[in-house]
Amino acid sequence: MMDKFSLTGKTILVTGASSGIGRQAAILAAEHGATLVITGRDPVRLQETFNQLEKDHDTSVVNRHSSFVADLTTESRMDDLIASLPTLDGLVHCAGIVGPLPAKFITRADIDRMFGINYNVPVNLTSKILRKKKLSDGASILFMSTIATRNPYFGGALYSGSKAALEAYSKTLALELVAKRIRSNCIMAGLVDTPMIVNPSEKNMQEEALERYLKRYPLGIGQPEDVAQAVIFFLSDASKWITGTSLIMGGE
Ligand SMILES: NC(=O)c1ccc[n+]([C@@H]2O[C@H](COP(=O)([O-])OP(=O)(O)OC[C@H]3O[C@@H](n4cnc5c(N)ncnc54)[C@H](OP(=O)(O)O)[C@@H]3O)[C@@H](O)[C@H]2O)c1
Repeated sequence: MMDKFSLTGKTILVTGASSGIGRQAAILAAEHGATLVITGRDPVRLQETFNQLEKDHDTSVVNRHSSFVADLTTESRMDDLIASLPTLDGLVHCAGIVGPLPAKFITRADIDRMFGINYNVPVNLTSKILRKKKLSDGASILFMSTIATRNPYFGGALYSGSKAALEAYSKTLALELVAKRIRSNCIMAGLVDTPMIVNPSEKNMQEEALERYLKRYPLGIGQPEDVAQAVIFFLSDASKWITGTSLIMGGE
């Protein structure tokens, strides 16, 4: 019987593949037979992901994956990445940042920084890839949003705003691309155990906010694998009748 969840024969670009959800999505997609193009900023961690793709691969298809180090907020690097791409069957936008900031302290620079990577990059990258005709008919595009666009947390206005904008963009994209049967969907994950959340540092969630947030998770916080499984579903033909939707994950 044909496995509708198989990604064999599909080429997938994953951004943010040097860490967390993007890394796990890339590894699982390779395990499901896909050829991966992975990108991230940190060359060492991106290489670690790349090594894991190679580890599980089908030895009959050697060196099928590739990696590209880039800060995607730099337009010329994004263009270089696109120039290097083969035709894609899937595009998974995982690159993103978080940062708690009470509304009254938000500055123009904060808005530009947060929206720069969380909204401008996936939108710009998608549009450029479409213009260069590097997305095959029937391809699947996936964006990482957050459950916080529905259930706010203190200090999350900017982050949630950038992701809510992405959800609206994805729905419109779904409409515009339907003639080519290209699908566009979002995953609205709750809290996932990744470096974005877990390492206590300035850029991560404040401890107090994290504690309050944790109480909202009857199934506990998620693991990157939990989100990666949903990514595989959206990339595969098993979801070929689903577009313009946002999947809530985490049980909140
Ligand atoms: N973790 C959660 O609880 C959670 C929940 C809902 C949604 N999400 C979303 O899921 C996505 C992945 O999050 P994560 O938890 O896996 O975070 P993560 O572990 O911190 O990974 C973030 C990734 O984004 C990349 N990145 C950041 N800025 C970049 C830039 N300017 N150019 C290129 N790449 C850049 C990072 O690259 P380097 O590490 O190489 O710098 C890294 O690979 C994000 O969009 C996040 O908003 C996360």
